[in-house]
Amino acid sequence: MNGDKNIVWHTASITREDREALLKQKGVVLWFTGLSGSGKSTVANAVEKKLFEAGKLTYLLDGDNIRHGLNKDLGFTISDRIENIRRIAEVSKLFTDAGIITLTAFISPLREDRDKVRQLLKDRFIEIFVDCSLDVCEGRDPKGLYKKARTGEIKSFTGIDSPYERPENPEITIKTGTQSVDVCAGEIVEYLIDNGFITG
Ligand code: ADX
Repeated sequence: MNGDKNIVWHTASITREDREALLKQKGVVLWFTGLSGSGKSTVANAVEKKLFEAGKLTYLLDGDNIRHGLNKDLGFTISDRIENIRRIAEVSKLFTDAGIITLTAFISPLREDRDKVRQLLKDRFIEIFVDCSLDVCEGRDPKGLYKKARTGEIKSFTGIDSPYERPENPEITIKTGTQSVDVCAGEIVEYLIDNGFITG
């Protein structure tokens, strides 16, 4: 907690609006949430590619990668997951302030934590529910982790012995079990155009 009287908030001379005018886009976070194996990273990558090809500045923060660096001290207890999401929210806020379209791909299993991110980012937060049944995710099992979770080799695995709370009012829901990656990514880009974050 920083109540230190010797730390003063500096007001920058270049603002988010200035950077957004330069980039011709609005800073925003596309917050993907869903089970492991639901397709968060795959769809986020496809969205990023479409945006990049349209000349937009983007950055993707991905759970598996961030856990190798910034959050390598964190595991999968509930309190570590809360801290994981808190840090990513703060990093996303900085990227958004830089005017960048930021994509995050974290399970982010708890509703309360996602709601805290929403409060932090206000109208620059777009929650994307990657809706895919546990059966389908487990059938895909791209990293073989569900198998390990079922045998007890991995404990506290989301969807098996650790909770996943579905979003109640996400801005966007994509169904990766029935829609193609390209269709899902296209819907998200359309949302950005329709809501004035980018021009088409
Ligand atoms: S979160 O719950 O804190 O948001 P995060 O998205 O960073 O999770 O990391 C999830 C990734 O870590 C999964 O896709 C999977 O590859 C790996 N992983 C390893 N152990 C677990 C676990 N116990 N529960 C969920 N994912 C795990």
